[in-house]
Amino acid sequence: MRDLIVAGNWKMNGSQQFVGEMLLALNNAGFSESVKAVVFPPSVYLHEAIQQAKAVKVGAQNLFYENSGAYTGELSASMISDVGCEYVILGHSERRAVFGEDDLLVAKKVVATLENHLTPILCVGETLEDRDGGKYSDVIATQVKVGLSLLSAEQISNVVIAYEPVWAIGTGKTASPLQAQEVHELIRNLVAEIAGKEVSSNMSVLYGGSVNAANAQELFSQPDIDGGLVGGASLKVDEFLAICSAAAEVLKR
Ligand code: PGA
Repeated sequence: MRDLIVAGNWKMNGSQQFVGEMLLALNNAGFSESVKAVVFPPSVYLHEAIQQAKAVKVGAQNLFYENSGAYTGELSASMISDVGCEYVILGHSERRAVFGEDDLLVAKKVVATLENHLTPILCVGETLEDRDGGKYSDVIATQVKVGLSLLSAEQISNVVIAYEPVWAIGTGKTASPLQAQEVHELIRNLVAEIAGKEVSSNMSVLYGGSVNAANAQELFSQPDIDGGLVGGASLKVDEFLAICSAAAEVLKR
């Protein structure tokens, strides 16, 4: 059985007040038995979110791969683990596009994350140009292969991958369930080649890109989609709860 995960990536949004509102609603919703809900507030609010989280997990949006030292402005995996986080988003397309992160840097961050007993959510996804040019499977294959290249098969069994087509992020344009399923299957096959079939069939692969309460259930019902990485819709309490409910419905079937 794979974990069904609904991850809320707040990006550079939120406030102390919003942490309180979202955590209270999630604590009271009672999804913890079935669906793993995880919130990713900006790092300045992580401690506060962890203090309040009862039925949900908390994760960080990024980290640097060194453990400590002269890296002004950065956070290490050991610090993120120290405050009680369990997950870290890595290689998000905004980190790649705005902050110039490449696949090898992301791979080093994945190693540091696992070494500190945190679960990395490794994000991959093609641009519209890649998709229109028919290059999307090559782009995704490179991101997956290099992103996992510094790991043993055993380490890979603790990784979560998120497929996030760049053209669907924050655009209101979602990949169709079939488009998403095609890429999820491709990712699972790639992982099988790298780490074996058992690791790949147990890995949670999330979809991200304009997931909302209306499209979540159909997306999460696809055979290789194990939940979502949600941006904009994770900033609205009712909408995020509805996405978690949609995931719980899928599990019940
Ligand atoms: P979105 O963002 O749901 O707003 O499209 C998803 C993400 O960037 O993780």
